Amino acid sequence: MKGVICAGGLGTRLRPLTLVTNKHLLPVFDQPMIFYPIQLLKAAGITNILIITGPESAGDFVKVLGDGSSMGCQFTFRFQSEPGGIAQAVGMAEDFVGKDKVVICLGDNIFSEDLSEPIRKFAASKSEAGLFLKSVPDPQRFGVAEVKGNKILSIEEKPKIPKSNLAVTGLYLYNGASLFDVIHKLKPSGRGELEITDVNNHFVKAGKAEFHQLKGDWSDAGTFESLHRASVMARNRKNGVSQ
Ligand code: DAU
Repeated sequence: MKGVICAGGLGTRLRPLTLVTNKHLLPVFDQPMIFYPIQLLKAAGITNILIITGPESAGDFVKVLGDGSSMGCQFTFRFQSEPGGIAQAVGMAEDFVGKDKVVICLGDNIFSEDLSEPIRKFAASKSEAGLFLKSVPDPQRFGVAEVKGNKILSIEEKPKIPKSNLAVTGLYLYNGASLFDVIHKLKPSGRGELEITDVNNHFVKAGKAEFHQLKGDWSDAGTFESLHRASVMARNRKNGVSQ
């Protein structure tokens, strides 16, 4: 299985911090933010990782990460010239992923639990998409899944009136054999981006998406509040405080 970390975008909600470097290199407790998705992938045995970021801080990434050997990984970098959406960034991984299965992780998502088992299960399954849902108090900030039994009925991106409190977190499992055909057919959304939610809805409608509900904590880290929450989570995890 291959790994892809989406670490592009301008991080405008974290200015002025992101005027000096990329959001994903900012500290989350005692490590740069991007170390967390790298560690999540490594825990699942995935060390061949493509990192997609913007060209502005390319040198900073290389300084922090190098070629990956010091972390026991092999990193490839690709630069997204404009932040045209998460699905656009994922589309840039086509040559790297080929027809393999792939774990896509958003570079600003921090998970407190070990997810290696559902990732390994997906690798051996016939599913085309695997999503991770988390019950949250502020679902309107995320992609929100409407679920019945063990099926997702639909996903809405940042709905004003959410149909549930289940956020679709930024960890996505796909099969390269079908993923890129779906991305090629996407049209930009109202906000001018290629949306990962449109990719996921394709697999939901086709009945080919499975999901796993997270028990542990999860946070994004793209705003000052969520960055702080992510740091507290990381600190608790390191100090063995149950979450
Ligand atoms: O955190 C989970 C949420 O992430 C999901 O629930 C949403 O469905 C999904 O759209 C996304 O929402 P955000 O509005 O939080 O996404 P944001 O624009 O903050 O981007 C998240 C990460 O994706 C960020 O760390 C950088 C990366 N990214 C984003 C864009 C727009 C890229 O690599 N390239 C891009 O063009």
